[in-house]
Amino acid sequence: MAGEKVLVLNATGKVGRNTCRALKEAGFEVFGTTRSNTSELTKMGVHPVTCNYTDRTDLDRALAETGAKKVFSITDYFLAAKSKPEVEIQHGKNAIDAAKAAKVDHFIFVSVVDAECFNEHVKHIKTKIIIEDYLRQSGLPFSILRPTAFFDDPKNWNPLKKGALKFLSTKTIKYCATYDIGRAAAVMFKNRDTWLSRSLDVIAWEGDLSQVAKALEKVGGVPVTFKLAMPIFLRRLFLKDLHNMFLYFEAGGPKGSPAEFRKVIPEALSAEDWFRFHGFYSNGEKIGA
Ligand SMILES: NC(=O)c1ccc[n+]([C@@H]2O[C@H](COP(=O)([O-])OP(=O)(O)OC[C@H]3O[C@@H](n4cnc5c(N)ncnc54)[C@H](OP(=O)(O)O)[C@@H]3O)[C@@H](O)[C@H]2O)c1
Repeated sequence: MAGEKVLVLNATGKVGRNTCRALKEAGFEVFGTTRSNTSELTKMGVHPVTCNYTDRTDLDRALAETGAKKVFSITDYFLAAKSKPEVEIQHGKNAIDAAKAAKVDHFIFVSVVDAECFNEHVKHIKTKIIIEDYLRQSGLPFSILRPTAFFDDPKNWNPLKKGALKFLSTKTIKYCATYDIGRAAAVMFKNRDTWLSRSLDVIAWEGDLSQVAKALEKVGGVPVTFKLAMPIFLRRLFLKDLHNMFLYFEAGGPKGSPAEFRKVIPEALSAEDWFRFHGFYSNGEKIGA
């Protein structure tokens, strides 16, 4: 198993980068796609593959060039699909079709936790259900990872500053680190037969903003204040998709628990662990310096 080739699509993104890291640590030979940022991947010991992951012909070429029979795939609604559901769905289908044509023997798709439970306004999650269904019908050997909200979304922390946290919700939210998505992918690739046709919710920690602030305070060694990034009525007006997503999180969703995920990844990162792992504020200053 170890030393086997894995192709990570969208490898320079938050999920892709930390998945490459986790797969390397697990002993895989990792290839990662990027449109142009090859040096970042090379620095991590990942073989860069120049490829726009949204383009079917590029995907066919990347699979042929690398010979990888394991693929880690993620799509993106807001940037790569320019907030057009049909475009993100097509990106997902392209990756599945290309993997099928290349006779990939294990395809992991990154969806979203409880994707079927969000209301119709949460368009960037509804797309994931359609891609999941397409994957299930495709005949491609697959597994699905369903992460909750990421710790590692600098936008979430507006940005991540010393002494002050802002977030789009102060309520209790279930979180995960993108690194744990990668560690779970490594477990799935190494135990293919156990994980074929199954999905796993990636949920590592749960807490409200005061608890996230306490975690940063502990790691950073300076007091941390916290507040909403914007009043809820503005969130509802200007961020309709995300607002409706938060309504589900704030009502107690997702259904899964950190305890369940820890059966697969016992050392899954808590908020405190994540601030240590991440290491830096957005201005480059070391957390805890
Ligand atoms: N944030 C959360 O809390 C959360 C939680 C659960 C699931 N998700 C899901 O995670 C996914 C996003 O993943 P991510 O955060 O890892 O993505 P990301 O960090 O935004 O990915 C950015 C990468 O996408 C590539 N890219 C950007 N624009 C592109 C374009 N127009 N065409 C082709 N490639 C483009 C860039 O790679 P190059 O420039 O190197 O090509 C860039 O490094 C979404 O589907 C979201 O629903 C997010």
